[in-house]
Amino acid sequence: MKKRNPSKPLSNNQHLLKWVEKMVELCRPAAVHWVDGSEEERDELYALMVKTGTMTKLNEKLWPGCYYARSDASDVARVEERTFICSLSKENAGPTNNWVEPGEMRKKLKTLFHGCMVGRTMYVLPYSMGPIGSPISQIGVELTDSPYVVTNMRIMARIGMPVYAEIDKGEKMVVPCMHTVGMPLEPGQPDVPWPCNKEKYIVHFPETREIWSYGSGYGGNALLGKKCFALRIASNMARDEGWMAEHMLILGVEDPNGQKTYVAAAFPSACGKTNFAMLIPPANFKKKGWKVWTVGDDIAWIKPDANGQLRAINPEYGFFGVAPGTSTKTNPNAMAALAKNTIFTNVALTKDGGVWWEGMGEAPAECTDWQGNKWTPEIAEASGAKAAHPNSRFTAPASQCPTIDPAWENPEGVPISAFIFGGRRATTMPLIYQAFNWTSGVYVGATMGSEMTAAAAGTVGKVRRDPMAMLPFCGYHMGDYFRHWISMQRRVSEMPRIFHVNWFRRDANGKFMWPGFGENMRVLKWIVDRARGHGAAKETAIGWMPHYEDIDWTDIGFTRAQFEEIQAIDRKAWRAEVIGHEELFLDLHDHLPQELLHERQLLISRL
Ligand code: GTP
Ligand code: SPV
Ligand code: MN
Repeated sequence: MKKRNPSKPLSNNQHLLKWVEKMVELCRPAAVHWVDGSEEERDELYALMVKTGTMTKLNEKLWPGCYYARSDASDVARVEERTFICSLSKENAGPTNNWVEPGEMRKKLKTLFHGCMVGRTMYVLPYSMGPIGSPISQIGVELTDSPYVVTNMRIMARIGMPVYAEIDKGEKMVVPCMHTVGMPLEPGQPDVPWPCNKEKYIVHFPETREIWSYGSGYGGNALLGKKCFALRIASNMARDEGWMAEHMLILGVEDPNGQKTYVAAAFPSACGKTNFAMLIPPANFKKKGWKVWTVGDDIAWIKPDANGQLRAINPEYGFFGVAPGTSTKTNPNAMAALAKNTIFTNVALTKDGGVWWEGMGEAPAECTDWQGNKWTPEIAEASGAKAAHPNSRFTAPASQCPTIDPAWENPEGVPISAFIFGGRRATTMPLIYQAFNWTSGVYVGATMGSEMTAAAAGTVGKVRRDPMAMLPFCGYHMGDYFRHWISMQRRVSEMPRIFHVNWFRRDANGKFMWPGFGENMRVLKWIVDRARGHGAAKETAIGWMPHYEDIDWTDIGFTRAQFEEIQAIDRKAWRAEVIGHEELFLDLHDHLPQELLHERQLLISRL
C-alpha cells in the first residue's frame, strides 16, 4: 500500500484550511501533519517518540500497547497562576480568574507563537468532545507541535477522519485551539525528551471561543479538549445556551430490580471522582444485585431535554487518572482499564519494563523514579523520595473499563437524579448530608471547601473555597455561574436532589474515619433512596442526614458511636466555616444572587 502524505489536508472546509495556513505562517513549523487517527499513524508517532526519548515502550507481555513518559521536573501539573480568562471586560472574568485585556494578550501571544514551531511538526488534530453526531457534542481542532499530546488526545477524545467529516458538513462551530511546547529547534540542535518552556500561558478568549496554550506539555495545560474546552470554554457556551458544563463524574446505580439511577458528582481535582465513578459495591450489596456503572470520571455536559429532564453526557473518550493510590484493592476497574493501550506519565519504571507507583502494591526492590533516578524502598525511607510524582497519571481508553455503562455513548445522554458535592476535609464536614432544596443545594456547592492537592502547582493541604469543584475551571464570573445554577430550576421539570459527602474526615490521631472506596456504596445507596423519594432522614442545622438505621452496615462493623462521630456537627467549627463562606461572598458580592445571601442567613440562624 502506498503511504499517505500527511501534509495533504484531510478536510475541505475553507475556514479550517485558511486558519491552518495562517497559523503555519505564524508558527513556522518544518512540516504539517494532518492527523487521521489511524492505528498506523499512532504506531508511527510512538516509534518517533521512542526515538527522541519522550516515550519508553513498556514490556509488551506485561503491559501490551503501553508507553511511559517522564515530564520535565517543572511541568508536572496544571498551572493556575498562568491560566487566563481574557474576556472583553475584566468584570466578566470575575475575581476568581486571572484576566489580561484581550488586545494586550493577543499581542503577547503573537510574539510568543511567532516561530514557536521552527524545526518541529505541526499536527492538525481534529477532535469531538462527546459522541460524534450527538446534539450535545462539540468540535475542536488543536494545532500542536507535541506528538505526546496527539497520542494522549487519541485516547481522551474521538479524533481523526470521522471528525473531519463532521467539520466538512459545516453545521457545527469549530473551536480553534493553539498549542505549543514553546521550544523551537534550530537546525542541528538536538531535541530533549520533554520539551517545554519556563514561561507558560494557558489562555482562553471566551467570546470568540478560542484557546491558546504556550509552554507546557502536561495534561490539563496541553490536552486542550479537556479542561480548557470542556470546562472553561464550554461553561461559557452552557451559560449562553441554558445548559451546564461541570467538573463531575457520572455513574449509574443499578438496584436489585434492574432499575438504574444516574448521579453526577463534583469533587475537586484529586479528591476521588475516578474512584467513585468506578466503585465496586461491598460483597453484601453485590450479592443482593446492586451494581455501579461508569459513564464518566471527570467532566459532565448536562442539558434539559424536551421534557425538562436533565440529561448528561461524558464528553471524553478516556480517563486521565491519578496513578498514586490506584490498586487492585482500591480500584480494580481502573486497574483493568489501564492494563493495556495506556500512556503512563511520571510514574516509576521497573526493571522488567513495567510501572509502579505508591499505593499500587508491594514496592519493587529497585526501580527508576519519575525523575530518572534510582529508587529503592531504603532510599525512600531515608530521603522521603517518591517513586511516582503525586500527580502522576495514566491515560486509558474508557471503553476498557469493565463497568463502562452500556449507555455511556448514548448521544442523548443519561437522566440525572442527583448531584453530589464533596471536598477533601480533615475536619468539620460530615460524611453525608442532603441539602433542603435546590437553592440550599446550590449554596452547599457554591461554598464547598477542599484541601489543595498535587493536581495543581501550589500549597498542598491548605483548605480553599472551590465552588462546585470549578474554581480553576469556570470560564466567567463565579457569581454569574451561581446565578446560572439557580436559574436552571426554571428550565427543568424536576430538579435533581443535592447532597454533600466527605470521604476524608480524620480523627484526633489524624486517621481517616471512613474506609472509603467501595464502602462509599453504603452512602450512595442512601443518596439513591432519597433521590427516588424514599429513605428516611432527620432534619439538622445543615440539612437532612441519615439515621444510623438508614444505612446498611452489613459486614463493616461501623458502630453507632463511630457514625455519630463522623456525622457530628461541631457548632464552633461550623461558625468558622461560615466565615470562610463570607470571604468568598465578599469577593463576588456585586454578582452574587440574592438567594445565596438568604441561604447564608438561614444557615447562620439555624446554627
Ligand atoms: P482528577 O483526575 O484530578 O480530577 O482527580 P479525581 O477527583 O478523579 O480523584 P481520584 O479518584 O483519582 O482520587 C485521588 C486520590 O484520592 C487517589 O490517591 C485516591 O486513591 C484517593 N481516594 C479516592 N477515593 C477515596 C476514598 O474514598 N477515600 C480515601 N481515603 N481516598 C480516596
Ligand atoms: C484535574 O486536575 O482536575 C485533572 C487533571 O483532571 S488535568 O487534566 O491535568 O486537569
Ligand atoms: Mn479533574
